[in-house]
Amino acid sequence: MRPLTVMIRWCSTLALALVFLQIKAETSSSFMLSDACPPGFELSAEQQCLLVNFYQLYNSVQGRGVGGTQTSLPKYRDGFSPQQIDLGRILFFDPALSKDGSMSCASCHQPDKGFSDGLARSKGIDGRQLTRSAPSLWNVAFLDKFYWDARANTLEEQAIGPLFDANEMANTPEQLLETLNGNSDYLALFKQTYPSRSQIELDQVVSALTAFQSSLISLNSRYDRYAHGYHEALNKNEIAGLNVFRSFVARCAECHQPPLFTNNQIAVIGVPEKDGIPFDIGAQQTYQAAKLRGGFKVPTLRNITKTKPYMHAGNFDDLREAVEFYNKGRGHAIPEGETLQIHWHIWEPNLTEHELDLIVAFLGTLTDEAFTPKVPASVPSGLSPVDANYQQQHNKNNQKLLSRAGE
Ligand code: HEC
Ligand code: HEC
Repeated sequence: MRPLTVMIRWCSTLALALVFLQIKAETSSSFMLSDACPPGFELSAEQQCLLVNFYQLYNSVQGRGVGGTQTSLPKYRDGFSPQQIDLGRILFFDPALSKDGSMSCASCHQPDKGFSDGLARSKGIDGRQLTRSAPSLWNVAFLDKFYWDARANTLEEQAIGPLFDANEMANTPEQLLETLNGNSDYLALFKQTYPSRSQIELDQVVSALTAFQSSLISLNSRYDRYAHGYHEALNKNEIAGLNVFRSFVARCAECHQPPLFTNNQIAVIGVPEKDGIPFDIGAQQTYQAAKLRGGFKVPTLRNITKTKPYMHAGNFDDLREAVEFYNKGRGHAIPEGETLQIHWHIWEPNLTEHELDLIVAFLGTLTDEAFTPKVPASVPSGLSPVDANYQQQHNKNNQKLLSRAGE
């Protein structure tokens, strides 16, 4: 053989071997991240997932009149890579993020409960009683204040809370990073997501969680079809309910402003605590402002039928009761000895029983879970992903952890 031919053959063998090695390196983890954006997003030339939504066609946040339907969206978070979003999904369900491998974010934010947990007040590690309820995570991409008392301003800042709170997931930054950096699957997944970084650090963890949560978009309910001009999407009662909701008598839409059904503000409305539960001063603490005593963030009403019980501490068991609260008179439930500065849009609308029913019927049209992400079948820690079947998975994971400790 001529030397040139030998060299070409040799080179192509080498190239093949390299390709093989490359494939091997990429598949050395059994976890692959999606390179496509979730539904509702479009991949840009810069490999960023950008939100695509009808509401972007409207150019005013004010709309026409109170509760105008064709109002635009406020500023929002998007532009994450498909890999960041998918990595965030895996982290969200992995109980390895908690101190003892017993709970994940999804323990308290369960996809089948509107990303809430069905409890009046959530329970943290070892069943520790928290003081407030888990809010829904739908449409958090559009918020600029987090927690009932608005004490965090970004999703990144928020995520630090549950991870390291002794009553919630009770982890420490050191232990969390040790767990993740000690796991070859996570190392590979973070490398795919953040190629320029050699180690997993906390900012990557919280930005992936933020990316995932920002993909939870619910803006395609029957109400939305109606808002965009398809009148038949709602029935007569539901339309009547919408009209009561946004009337200047009921004033619901002043605070629960379409299209998000929140105006991202804090309001003091004077919801009574359940028997035996101490009064929660809410946003007074955050802003050190007496006029915000008992003030809470106006929650979205999207997917509201999925997230009972209602209010900051599950104060009302069902939706009818929550709506009826507004009809009982301004400040009717202020505890003795408290002075609260109730918001001026809370007054005495004197709605009829029928009108209250109509509002409840309307709220049912705000349900849209079409973009519910998949719960991962398995997660890199080897533990069972924890969400709704918390107790069952917890027991399974305890056995896994015990047998690991004995290895
Ligand atoms: C033990 C239950 C529990 C766990 C675990 C948990 N959360 Fe929460 N989450 C809550 C509760 C309760 C609140 C409200 C607390 C408050 O307002 O004081 C909350 C609030 C939030 C909010 C604010 C939403 C809003 O509208 O203001 C976000 C976002 C959030 N959690 C995301 C996460 C993420 C991400 C994780 C995992 C890292 C997580 N949560 C783990 C119970 C939990
Ligand atoms: C002044 C602003 C304001 C007005 C007006 C208002 N709300 Fe609210 N709404 C809030 C705040 C703040 C909360 C949370 C209060 C808390 O947790 O203590 C809330 C909570 C709710 C909840 C429970 C949501 C959840 O996730 O638990 C429902 C349902 C609700 N409002 C419906 C209505 C209806 C119906 C009307 C009109 C009759 C109305 N709201 C008028 C501010 C307002």
